[in-house]
Amino acid sequence: MKSLHKFCCFCFLLPPFILSDATDTITVNEPLADGKTIISSGGTFELGFFSPVVNSRSRYLGIWYKKVAKSAVVWIANRDVAMNDTDGLLKMTDQAKLTLVKSRDTAIWSTNATRSVRNPVAQLLDSGNLVVKDAADDNPENYLWQSYDYPTDTILPGVKLGLDLVKGIDRYLQSSKSSIDPSRGDFLYRTDPNGFPQQFLMNNSLPQFRSGPWNGLRFSGSPGLKPNPVYTYEFVNTPKEIYYKFDLINSSVYSRLTLSSFGVLQRLNWNYRAQDWTVYVNAPADNCDTYGLCDAYGICNIANSPVCSCLDRFVPQSPNDWNATDWSSGCQRRTPLDCQKGDGFLKYTGLKLPDTRWSWYNDSINLKECEKICLKNCSCMAYSNTDVRGKGSGCLLWFDDLIDITMIGDSGQDIYIRMASSELGTGSNKAKKIGISLCLVVLVLLVLGLTLNVQKKRKRRQAEHVSGEASTGTRSTQYLAEEGDKEDVELPLFELKTIIQATDNFSRDKKLGEGGFGPVYKGTLVGGQEIAVKRLSQNSIQGLDEFKNEVKCIAKLQHRNLVKLLGCCIQEEKILIYEFMPNKSLDFFIFDHDRRRFLDWPKRFQIITGIARGLLYLHQDSRLTIIHRDLKADNILLDIDLKPKISDFGLARIFGGTETEASTKRAVGTYGYISPEYAVDGYFSTKLDVFSFGVLVLEIVSGKKNRGFSHPDHHHNLLGHAWLLYKEGRCPELIDAHLSVSCHLYEVIRSIHVGLLCVQQSPDDRPSMSSVVFMLAGDGSLPFPKEPGYFTERNLSFEPDKSSSGKKENSSGNALSITLLDAR
Ligand SMILES: *[C@@H]1O[C@H](CO)[C@@H](O)[C@H](O)[C@H]1NC(C)=O
Ligand SMILES: *[C@@H]1O[C@H](CO)[C@@H](O)[C@H](O)[C@H]1NC(C)=O
Ligand SMILES: *[C@@H]1O[C@H](CO)[C@@H](O)[C@H](O)[C@H]1NC(C)=O
Ligand SMILES: *[C@@H]1O[C@H](CO)[C@@H](O)[C@H](O)[C@H]1NC(C)=O
Ligand SMILES: *[C@@H]1O[C@H](CO)[C@@H](O)[C@H](O)[C@H]1NC(C)=O
Ligand SMILES: *[C@@H]1O[C@H](CO)[C@@H](O)[C@H](O)[C@H]1NC(C)=O
Ligand SMILES: *[C@@H]1O[C@H](CO)[C@@H](O)[C@H](O)[C@H]1NC(C)=O
Repeated sequence: MKSLHKFCCFCFLLPPFILSDATDTITVNEPLADGKTIISSGGTFELGFFSPVVNSRSRYLGIWYKKVAKSAVVWIANRDVAMNDTDGLLKMTDQAKLTLVKSRDTAIWSTNATRSVRNPVAQLLDSGNLVVKDAADDNPENYLWQSYDYPTDTILPGVKLGLDLVKGIDRYLQSSKSSIDPSRGDFLYRTDPNGFPQQFLMNNSLPQFRSGPWNGLRFSGSPGLKPNPVYTYEFVNTPKEIYYKFDLINSSVYSRLTLSSFGVLQRLNWNYRAQDWTVYVNAPADNCDTYGLCDAYGICNIANSPVCSCLDRFVPQSPNDWNATDWSSGCQRRTPLDCQKGDGFLKYTGLKLPDTRWSWYNDSINLKECEKICLKNCSCMAYSNTDVRGKGSGCLLWFDDLIDITMIGDSGQDIYIRMASSELGTGSNKAKKIGISLCLVVLVLLVLGLTLNVQKKRKRRQAEHVSGEASTGTRSTQYLAEEGDKEDVELPLFELKTIIQATDNFSRDKKLGEGGFGPVYKGTLVGGQEIAVKRLSQNSIQGLDEFKNEVKCIAKLQHRNLVKLLGCCIQEEKILIYEFMPNKSLDFFIFDHDRRRFLDWPKRFQIITGIARGLLYLHQDSRLTIIHRDLKADNILLDIDLKPKISDFGLARIFGGTETEASTKRAVGTYGYISPEYAVDGYFSTKLDVFSFGVLVLEIVSGKKNRGFSHPDHHHNLLGHAWLLYKEGRCPELIDAHLSVSCHLYEVIRSIHVGLLCVQQSPDDRPSMSSVVFMLAGDGSLPFPKEPGYFTERNLSFEPDKSSSGKKENSSGNALSITLLDAR
């Protein structure tokens, strides 16, 4: 099991007091009234009326797990028409129709009877299947109706997810609108019989995710579908039926497949130890599962950045868009096909096979024969085996552009793609080389001519990508547009006497604290506007012009999660003037015994995502790549709504020189937040901030400081402690005891997971901030975190020595490579 994700709000609330009859059937003479239930013979499932929300009048007829502590509704009869009263009645008619009626016999829902039988009954089987049959006939072939043919958002073991072409039944999953509204939502998970059959997750009619075709062992795009201790599975594709089905190995170890209201297909297994449902598999699992992300002849590889590239011997249709990470135009052959002259095929390995809706197949044709057939037809683009078992068998041909290809690796498949013969090494090598050089020249010209254009486009896209950031988006483009102008945005210059007046001559009473780069004062301008005044310490290495330029750059960075720079003062000393944040900083809240109560989980999560977005903007979306280098709880200020704003960004540039991925002599940073490579080698990149962000996340969740953390059982720091708990599935123990997270456990655990990925030892193992934003917002599966950085029990020299923690060190003049910036 990958990780322990818990669901709480996910499960429907069931009526607490239910009078149960010891029966599993409904007969003509014994209908089922609201308030009563029937229970399957083995006691596994129960059928009755329920409300998705407590005290709600909406009543539904459904089936749910009876034996497990955290029940879950697996089927609903009247999902689209709620009953508004408790006068519902489930009746069996003489015509063998199971009918749900409300007062005065108005039918709300009814089964279809195919014929009438002598003694019709409805029986809830221990598999969770509600069947209508003759009381004396137990043969499944003779059922008149069964709920297994009409799944809602869940399939249970034994349900044939797919098509019965003889009876004309299509069994598919359809999501609920929300956890409290079971009516039909936007998402479907359905078998598509066109070409070589596959399953699709659709949003309305748009494909979101494709399973890939069945290759004898698994779906081509589901390398994780493997023999396991919980369930067996099969895929059947005959002229009569096409379906996927799974069965439990031990009937007490429950497993179900559910399409969540937010469009994720999940396998949930019951975990006896945790007494909860845990997610076993999610689909889509990552960005590469997004249908057609890299478009035609593009290949998605989640291990790459960016994830899309063109298949070997293919080039972007529109190189500019492609470089701007807009892959929607796809790729094309670098040498066009020439069917008359004769083409050939090139083998590609380790792939999820492309969309097979426009394919043709025959299971009894071998690969050699298959190649011949494909070669003969100029519109045949590729071929492969249909079945990978043994040496492979069957013939699958594609007759359209190849789309939705993913790099899977060892569990991936081989496909042979049509190529112009010159691409196969038979053509003149020299001509090829000249061709490539020409291509390169053209590309370079294109790049030179259009760089500005690309950048503009990218800025806009990225800004839009961060949802809800539209206003910032326009702003950043606006600045970009001014890039060419000689006149930059003017930054207000404050006179020193204005500042002196505003702060009572830097009075002690007005001092808010000692930030990393100098003391900060609260000030009030003549008009009443409150400001924060940062008096930069004298050891800034820059000259005045350089400083002014730098400040102008910082002033242009505007984002709702960044503290706004209002202006500066350069008379006699260097002073920065910021907007004033009434609620101080994050550390003031999360580490304080009383004030931490103000930050409930939704607020903390808002803070986590806000910081992530602010950082993403600094790293990627702004005109410059800004590495903060001193991200910590003290530097996260809170506005009046307790929304986070990052402060002190860009200052490292003033104090530490250029902002490229580099090592630096003048390091800034704070113990407890800096990454190992920076602490040891002074090497920094955006991944340094990612590390600090991860520390922050774990601090926000736990309410404990990484620096100075201690635990009776071991000598690890907070990161090590979190990882040990995570590994053992004991995440909830990390959570701040003052936090009530019962309904957000999934979000909390996901945050811990993301936090751990951010504090990995190697910068390459840490996600980028854009992935972090995506991970926090999404619910795809995440890689398992390895040991975090500093995972050694307290023997590193830079671990705070408890006796001296809190002692100030100022090392600007000595040989240490770190300037330790203590909390103010
Ligand atoms: C219950 O109320 C809703 C909204 O008022 C209505 O749409 C629905 O038809 C009602 N259900 C029944 C069974 O009358
Ligand atoms: C009954 O049959 C109709 C028409 O064939 C179909 O639309 C409906 O979904 C069926 N209802 C059930 C509950 O099977
Ligand atoms: C589903 O499609 C609708 C439009 O049809 C769109 O507004 C919505 O964002 C989509 N949802 C997802 C999760 O893609
Ligand atoms: C099935 O699972 C239950 C619960 O884990 C366990 O108690 C039982 O021994 C298992 N049965 C078999 C045959 O493995
Ligand atoms: C796209 O980016 C790559 C790598 O940065 C570069 O080599 C190439 O020239 C770029 N092409 C265009 C058209 O911008
Ligand atoms: C598949 O190929 C075999 C052998 O060539 C042939 O006998 C059979 O009719 C083909 N089946 C279909 C459905 O085309
Ligand atoms: C090539 O295959 C397509 C799709 O099966 C078919 O429509 C077309 O007629 C074939 N062309 C030739 C020349 O066989």
